[in-house]
Amino acid sequence: MPQQRYLCGLIQNMHTIKLKVDTIVRETPDAVAIYFRDEKGEIAHFWPGQFLTLVMQLDGKSARRSYSICTSPTVLPMIGICVKRVAGGLVSNYLVDKLQEGDVLEVLEPYGSFTLNYKMAQLPTLVLIGAGSGITPLMSIIKSVIDKPEAPKVHLFYGNRNEQSIIFKEQLEKLIDKYPGKLEVTHLLSQPSSSYAGMKGRIEAGIIQALCNEKQLFADVSANYYICGPDGMMHAVLGLLDSQGIPADRVHKESFFLAHKAEPVAEAPAAGGGDGTHQIKIKLDGQVHDLTVKPGKYILETALEHGLDLPYACTMGVCGMCRAVKVQGEMLIEEQEAISESEIEEGACLTCVSKPLSNDLVIDYDAR
Ligand SMILES: Cc1cc2nc3c(=O)[nH]c(=O)nc-3n(C[C@H](O)[C@H](O)[C@H](O)COP(=O)(O)OP(=O)(O)OC[C@H]3O[C@@H](n4cnc5c(N)ncnc54)[C@H](O)[C@@H]3O)c2cc1C
Ligand code: FES
Repeated sequence: MPQQRYLCGLIQNMHTIKLKVDTIVRETPDAVAIYFRDEKGEIAHFWPGQFLTLVMQLDGKSARRSYSICTSPTVLPMIGICVKRVAGGLVSNYLVDKLQEGDVLEVLEPYGSFTLNYKMAQLPTLVLIGAGSGITPLMSIIKSVIDKPEAPKVHLFYGNRNEQSIIFKEQLEKLIDKYPGKLEVTHLLSQPSSSYAGMKGRIEAGIIQALCNEKQLFADVSANYYICGPDGMMHAVLGLLDSQGIPADRVHKESFFLAHKAEPVAEAPAAGGGDGTHQIKIKLDGQVHDLTVKPGKYILETALEHGLDLPYACTMGVCGMCRAVKVQGEMLIEEQEAISESEIEEGACLTCVSKPLSNDLVIDYDAR
């Protein structure tokens, strides 16, 4: 039996869960699926489409990285993720190359709003559009509905470079065979082998429009669209759905990374003629904390430096874990992908990409 290794960060107070690596499956040369056993049963439930955040210490650095869950909640206490290597990346390369069965990882509880409520009475038609590792949350959604007799057919449009880079290829084929008529997968390969007989190309607006027209999906007023993949692909598909008049509440997206950060935003003006620092309040676990935020500093960054035990993962406005509520005052929220304009208007904010603009700013974590 392999010796247990503990690859855990030391997190004061924050609730973390230890998961034992049960099985590692090499999906492609650059991606592994990692299946954990939740031995203490600490994860009672999650929604298909949510992610786990790994809390690790590697090369003397603490690191948090989020990975979407690829399994259905029905197979708990087993729970899986899939990691694709990012060139030069600290955590993904470790997980793809060095993690071993029997290791124990520390994670934060499942989180995320890219979800399907599969317990609803009437499941919608599902149109899933993904590329590369973007298949991972879509796989959890597929597995969660495919055995439900009342669920309509699931359409998956899945982009990859070539036959060898298709993550979950075998699992998808098995699901198609096991549940005839329930899942239709259209692969799009940008650089396939010469013997490949399927569709060639990338996921872009024209191809997806043609496929949706062919399958009469735009006319289905129940159809819900779930999109996950690289920035360019997501923007193309979101633009298409918008141009087709698909209402925003039927369109769901998950970003893994923000390739293009906005141009540097002008620094917040100094309040009351001061030096640009702001005095703000943070409500957390029933207590109010007074913080001094220096010019150019983000609220989350400052709060962590002050020792506050706040939830976070990506620190770049993608995962949504640092979401809180602005009770009063003014703040600048820089480019982010995790909350909508209407949510911001209702008071939601992401502290990892936000800076104070006034001294009366109050942020409430308990109301989130
Ligand atoms: C909600 C959420 C869910 C996610 N789910 C998955 C998943 O299911 N599978 C998966 O493989 N990854 C997923 N990710 C991405 C994952 O969290 C890490 O960002 C990724 O593994 C890179 O981490 P790293 O430590 O290897 O790279 P880092 O050391 O953080 O970065 C190395 C370099 O690569 C760049 N970089 C970082 N991330 C990416 C990226 N995703 N694409 C391109 N360039 C990048 C950085 O800017 C840096 O230059 C998810 C991210 C989020 C926010
Ligand atoms: S920590 Fe991920 S959005 Fe703020």
